[in-house]
Amino acid sequence: MRVLITGGNSRVAQAIAHDRVARGDTVVLTAASAVSLETLRETCRHDALDASCLLFDLRNPDAPSPGLDEALRSAEGLVLNAATPVLTRRRFHEIPAEAVSAAIDADVKGNLSLLRRALPGMVERRFGRIVFVSSVSVAMGTARYGAYCLTKSALEALMRNLAVEYGGHNVLSNTLRLGLVKTPRTESFWSRERYARAASALVPQGRLGDVDAIPEAVQPLLSARQYINGSVVTVAGGLPLLNTLALPGSGEP
Ligand SMILES: NC(=O)c1ccc[n+]([C@@H]2O[C@H](COP(=O)([O-])OP(=O)(O)OC[C@H]3O[C@@H](n4cnc5c(N)ncnc54)[C@H](OP(=O)(O)O)[C@@H]3O)[C@@H](O)[C@H]2O)c1
Repeated sequence: MRVLITGGNSRVAQAIAHDRVARGDTVVLTAASAVSLETLRETCRHDALDASCLLFDLRNPDAPSPGLDEALRSAEGLVLNAATPVLTRRRFHEIPAEAVSAAIDADVKGNLSLLRRALPGMVERRFGRIVFVSSVSVAMGTARYGAYCLTKSALEALMRNLAVEYGGHNVLSNTLRLGLVKTPRTESFWSRERYARAASALVPQGRLGDVDAIPEAVQPLLSARQYINGSVVTVAGGLPLLNTLALPGSGEP
């Protein structure tokens, strides 16, 4: 299968890419800038990951990028993993309007551009597997992440539409909702021992997530034989359920 994964530098994308290559897939990864594209190429060389690397910036999705149109036209699997960083962690009314608009422009409209270019080929070949990488924040709400929850929710709603509209063409769309997974994006949280302990205690599985768990959850969503369409697969140790035993006194009679 030819699989295109956005946000190739992310540990999530790297874990999925290694797994897909091991399964015999042809993998294309994207990076947001010329500099991060070089980093991505270097990482692939260093880790012996046999993947093509292309430029794709969510903020400027239609900018010319050699090879991208063709990669999208021929993609059989599309994993929408890239997400712009959350730079402004404030209450919603305090997030500058421009920052919310920028998040919508990049994280929603940027992904729409990819979908518009990938769907025609998938429909024509009567085969497509689309995975939206989302967050359990969509179900739980996460304070200070208003714009992020908004864009992820919008994409989840679109996923359901695509599942209905294209399912009959064997183009299947699903969402992968992640909990708190230890990556550089979330390092400012999990690297603080007190935070990590308290957050782990709330997770029914009792710990934060590692990227190694993700490819196993992606596999059924990319599989040729699957009958999963319009679903949400949550990789979050039990969240959004909460380990109520973590509440003081809750384990006592
Ligand atoms: N880690 C978690 O706990 C967690 C939880 C829930 C959901 N998720 C979701 O899982 C996915 C991966 O997360 P992560 O933790 O691996 O995040 P990450 O380390 O921040 O990686 C994000 C990736 O997105 C790319 N990106 C950022 N801005 C971009 C832009 N303007 N255009 C194109 N690509 C851009 C980056 O590419 P460059 O390196 O090229 O800049 C980077 O590879 C994201 O969708 C995130 O929302 C993560």
